[in-house]
Amino acid sequence: MIMRRFSIVATLAGFALLTSPVFAEKVARGEQGAAATEHPLASKVGIDVLKSGGNAVDAAVAVGLMLGVVAPHHSGIGGGCFLLIRRPDGAIFALDARETAPAAATRDMFLRDGKLDPLLSQRGALAVATPGALAGYALAAKTHGRKPLRELIAPAIEAAENGFAIHGDFAELLNAHQETFPEMAGAAAIHGGTIEARWKAGDLFPQIHLAASYRSIADQGTDWFYRGAFAEKLDAAMREAGGRVVASDLAGYEVISREPLRGSYRGVEIVSFPPPSSGGIHVLQILRLVERFDLAKASEGERAHLLGEAMKIAFADRAHWLGDPDFARVPRGLLDADYLGELSAKIAPDRLLGVDRAGQPPVAGIDVFEKKHTTHFSVADAEGWWVACTATINTTFGSGFVVPGTGIVLNNEMDDFAIQPGVPNYFGLIGAEANAVEPRKRPLSSMTPTLVLRDGQPILALGAAGGPTIITQTVGNLVGVLDLELPLDSALAAPRVHHQWRPDELRIETAWSEAAQGHLTQLGHRLKINGKIGVSNAVGREGTGFIGVSEPRQNTGAAAW
Ligand code: DON
Repeated sequence: MIMRRFSIVATLAGFALLTSPVFAEKVARGEQGAAATEHPLASKVGIDVLKSGGNAVDAAVAVGLMLGVVAPHHSGIGGGCFLLIRRPDGAIFALDARETAPAAATRDMFLRDGKLDPLLSQRGALAVATPGALAGYALAAKTHGRKPLRELIAPAIEAAENGFAIHGDFAELLNAHQETFPEMAGAAAIHGGTIEARWKAGDLFPQIHLAASYRSIADQGTDWFYRGAFAEKLDAAMREAGGRVVASDLAGYEVISREPLRGSYRGVEIVSFPPPSSGGIHVLQILRLVERFDLAKASEGERAHLLGEAMKIAFADRAHWLGDPDFARVPRGLLDADYLGELSAKIAPDRLLGVDRAGQPPVAGIDVFEKKHTTHFSVADAEGWWVACTATINTTFGSGFVVPGTGIVLNNEMDDFAIQPGVPNYFGLIGAEANAVEPRKRPLSSMTPTLVLRDGQPILALGAAGGPTIITQTVGNLVGVLDLELPLDSALAAPRVHHQWRPDELRIETAWSEAAQGHLTQLGHRLKINGKIGVSNAVGREGTGFIGVSEPRQNTGAAAW
């Protein structure tokens, strides 16, 4: 795999940690633990927390809060997250801190003069759902960690206050969003720039409002956000801007502890996230659909074809059956062995399968799941704590709506609902009744924090960012490790393939060989060639220690101890 190293030249003296050259080592090894995230500073904070006596849950919480500062366009406390936590005694917990539709949400909220306006669920106040990430991090730290939130948030406060040296990709992104994000441009002004300032690699990027918000959380706890001054400010800003999330939505927000999904593949156990994530179900479906094929012996083209066919079948089910299990009946039959066996039998190595609708899984009365632009990070420690967490504000900079004076970028997660049956969302995904907008319902997600266990012992924590490709990246990474027996870094670097049923096209990365592309074309696949698909971050066991691998395709950085 390609290893890239980038360094950033300090522009101001005095902030040793944040401005000294940052080395983006994408692979890190250590005996005590590892953290793989999309940003070297966040990975480093995770390892610092381990070194100071915290466990992997403390580390993950500190990482999540730090990512809200160093990658505020992908996640933050204005969004939501799913945390999959493994305790040293083997118990695994799925904490669902997904955003919820506000109580005042209605099915017609995105209509104007009777016509759907898809932009309304993507940009601005109406796109915002009630954020859950902070409640999720706080609950994880309280129930499974051993350090106070005040301590875990401290490095993030420092990074927000003093700024951190940005890399070139982030500089470009800021420049592109300069006008749409006045708060961000405000940071430029603090920094001696103007609203037209051009950001460049190595510039410090302070966020003083966000720093003050984080400080209030350190001082007053999460009540500041859910019941205190922030809730009041958000309420006022929403009412003025025509949004629907109000103070009572924040006060009523609850993290839900769910039963993780378990399945097997090639002799190992895969534990993943249940609905309202679609990730766990469809990763398990896809793996079970291809398990009868020898993917290691297949040519590249054959492998991409077989995976694409299984993905197509799974995403057809997703569009029909999946939604928040507290509102929609999501049948467990989707993972029924006979059901998947029948579907798998339809997949042929030498012919393209037409899939015109979802399958018909067994839907026995009570047999349903319990009624009661994103970032993924993975952390593990030597005590046996493992965390896979995916956090998001949905698309880049979320709704673009920042509660004035707080620096907190709010999500646009309402767009993850099927805002009308059959109407594609930002990611081209369609959905049905199961994922229709309802008050206090959670929009369906593709986020797939996943753990892999061999003989009951964790060997891998993984997940990804990238909308629906989260599911297919996770499948691809698992196939790389479990079928092709690649080292973790090579598995993440291997060319990716994605099919989401609609549109009916097979997305492949340019890195697939010409022979593979030729094979797929010959079979009749409609190919869409992408330079790069997704961002995955994983930690795994290696010998007696750990390996952390952050996404080879991006400016990222893992850390270990
Ligand atoms: O929950 C979901 O599935 C989406 N909100 C994730 C969005 C995402 O991954 C954006 N990254 N490109």
